[in-house]
Amino acid sequence: MREWLYDVFRERPAWMSAVMVFCAYMAFVYLPWDLFVKPVAVDEEVWFGIRFTGWWAKILAIPHWFVYAAAVYGFRRRRPWMAFWATAYTAQVAFGIYLWSAVRVGGFSGVLVGLFPALPFAGLAWAFWNAREYFEPRPLSLVPRYGEWGLVTGASSGIGAALAREIAADGMNVIVSARRAERLEALAAELERDFGVQARAVPADLATREGQRTLLDAVADLEIGLLVNNAGRGLAGRFDLRDGDQLRDLVALNCEAPVVLTHALVQGMRERGRGAVLFTGSAAGRQPLPLHAVYAATKAFDLFLGEALWAELRASNIDVVVLEPGSTETEFQEIAGELAHAGDRADEVARLGLAALGEQPSVIAGWYNWIRANLAARLFTRPITAHLAHAVIAKQVPEELR
Ligand SMILES: NC(=O)c1ccc[n+]([C@@H]2O[C@H](COP(=O)([O-])OP(=O)(O)OC[C@H]3O[C@@H](n4cnc5c(N)ncnc54)[C@H](OP(=O)(O)O)[C@@H]3O)[C@@H](O)[C@H]2O)c1
Repeated sequence: MREWLYDVFRERPAWMSAVMVFCAYMAFVYLPWDLFVKPVAVDEEVWFGIRFTGWWAKILAIPHWFVYAAAVYGFRRRRPWMAFWATAYTAQVAFGIYLWSAVRVGGFSGVLVGLFPALPFAGLAWAFWNAREYFEPRPLSLVPRYGEWGLVTGASSGIGAALAREIAADGMNVIVSARRAERLEALAAELERDFGVQARAVPADLATREGQRTLLDAVADLEIGLLVNNAGRGLAGRFDLRDGDQLRDLVALNCEAPVVLTHALVQGMRERGRGAVLFTGSAAGRQPLPLHAVYAATKAFDLFLGEALWAELRASNIDVVVLEPGSTETEFQEIAGELAHAGDRADEVARLGLAALGEQPSVIAGWYNWIRANLAARLFTRPITAHLAHAVIAKQVPEELR
């Protein structure tokens, strides 16, 4: 509990935390009561100084709930849009209160009297605008936080290559690993040239014990401060139609390799008293996913592993995060045997994951994936969730594999 409170309130100025607590009260206590318990006959809502009653008040309580819920999220996660959001909303309240009081009193005295109740809110709007820097994205500062070297698996394409570029751009030396040696060499040369860091390419098949050993031996002389367990693949299609050996390799790559690498490298991080581990999970790991059953199960494994380590390793000053992309434009779909469909940009997904280090145990890319994972997958019963997921994923899998 103490750690949770520390996470919720650290860094933010006290006055802003007080506003956040008030917004949480409005979103989780007052507005649910207002919406579901308060009689329609006595309900009132004020927007832009205009008073609504009865059913209009009930209906307009819904956007009010969104305002406060978004504010709690924006304060908690320091979202860049929050500076504008908080300023605009409190300015709107100030204007509403001014109008309300001025009209009620009337005449010239109304113009003056209206200022008094409005001023605290105008002041708050001004304070939010002045504090906008607090909400701006910060430099990652990976080297001072974690050390000189990062290791990225699955860096020969897609999200892994994007993660390696982001890490190098922040000034950290990088080891890039995957099976395709030529691509790794080209990426290492690009990182050294573009960002002036040191980069090493280590080809290894991480679905095998030998490959995992090869990689660990190749980095044994380095202090790895940031481990990115990103290498992974999927195999779309009905369970019984896919090759058993390939499914076993998929489990080894997506689950065994992160366990082996993390276990080996966390020892050094503990000794040095700092470090970080990023797991690339998937929004697919938030619910059972028929036609991607083994893949989704491996990503649920990564999520649980990462979130548990997040809590376990924080006392050792080791940050852990699980990055959960939804569909992303990489080679993944083709290799998994999916039908092509649109996705997010790999560089944006990579940035989101690295920015979440030290902030939260897991981060889902894209608000639509967030809604699916947090609302749909939690609100519906498990059979309904599995059936819905089946219907959605079927559109992405070739007919002969369904
Ligand atoms: N793209 C998406 O829609 C999506 C969505 C959610 C989660 N993810 C996750 O994101 C991660 C990265 O995938 P991506 O989208 O960037 O796909 P990608 O472009 O196919 O990249 C996968 C990476 O993993 C490497 N890899 C595959 N098998 C390997 C093995 N046996 N040993 C070592 N490395 C291996 C690949 O390199 P080599 O082939 O050279 O070995 C490649 O660098 C994966 O964990 C994936 O599950 C992707």
